[in-house]
Amino acid sequence: MSVVTAASHPDAWLALRAALWPHCPRGRHQEEIDAQSADVRRCAAFLVQDGQGEAVGLIELALRGDYVNGTRSSPVAFVEGLYVAPEHRRAGMAALLLAAAKDWAIRRGCAELASDTGLDNQVSQHAHLALDFEETERVVFYRMAL
Ligand SMILES: CC(C)(COP(=O)(O)OP(=O)(O)OC[C@H]1O[C@@H](n2cnc3c(N)ncnc32)[C@H](O)[C@@H]1OP(=O)(O)O)[C@@H](O)C(=O)NCCC(=O)NCCS
Repeated sequence: MSVVTAASHPDAWLALRAALWPHCPRGRHQEEIDAQSADVRRCAAFLVQDGQGEAVGLIELALRGDYVNGTRSSPVAFVEGLYVAPEHRRAGMAALLLAAAKDWAIRRGCAELASDTGLDNQVSQHAHLALDFEETERVVFYRMAL
C-alpha cells in the first residue's frame, strides 16, 4: 500500500470523488479538482493505492482560515473528504491517508487537524475516534432562501 498525490492520478481522483459524493455532477467534480489543483498552497489531496497499484481511497484537505468549530488555532488543516472503497475497508487505508494528511498539515505550519461527519455516520465517527481525533462539538446547520 502506498500514498500518492491525487494530482498525479486525475482519473482515479475523479472516480473516488464520484463514489464519495455520487449526487454531485461529474462536471462539478472536475471543476472542484481543477480549483484545488490551482490552489496548492491551500489545498491537498492524496490517494492510497493497494498492492496492485490501484487507487482505493482518497483524502482531500484544505487550510481553513475562518473559525472552525472546536479548534483553538488558525489556520487549521481540515479534512474536506475521506473515502475508502467498500471492499478495501478495515485494512488501515484511512489510517494511511490520515498520516499523509498530518504530514501535510504540519508542513503547512498548522497546530491542528480538524474534520466533521454526519450525526448518522456512525462508521465515520468510530473511525475518527480510532484515528486519534477527539470529538469537539455537535452543531445543527440552518438556512433560509432569499
Ligand atoms: C470512514 C472510512 C473512511 C474508514 O476507512 P477505513 O480504511 O475502513 O479505515 P481504517 O481501516 O483505517 O480503520 C481505522 C479504524 O477505524 C475504526 N473503524 C473503521 N471502520 C469501522 C467500522 N465499520 N466500525 C467500527 N469501527 C470502524 C476501527 O477502529 C479501525 O481500526 P481497526 O480496523 O484496526 O479496528 C470508510 O469507512 C469510508 O470511506 N466510509 C464512507 C465515506 C465516509 O463516511 N467518509 C467519512 C466522512 S467524510
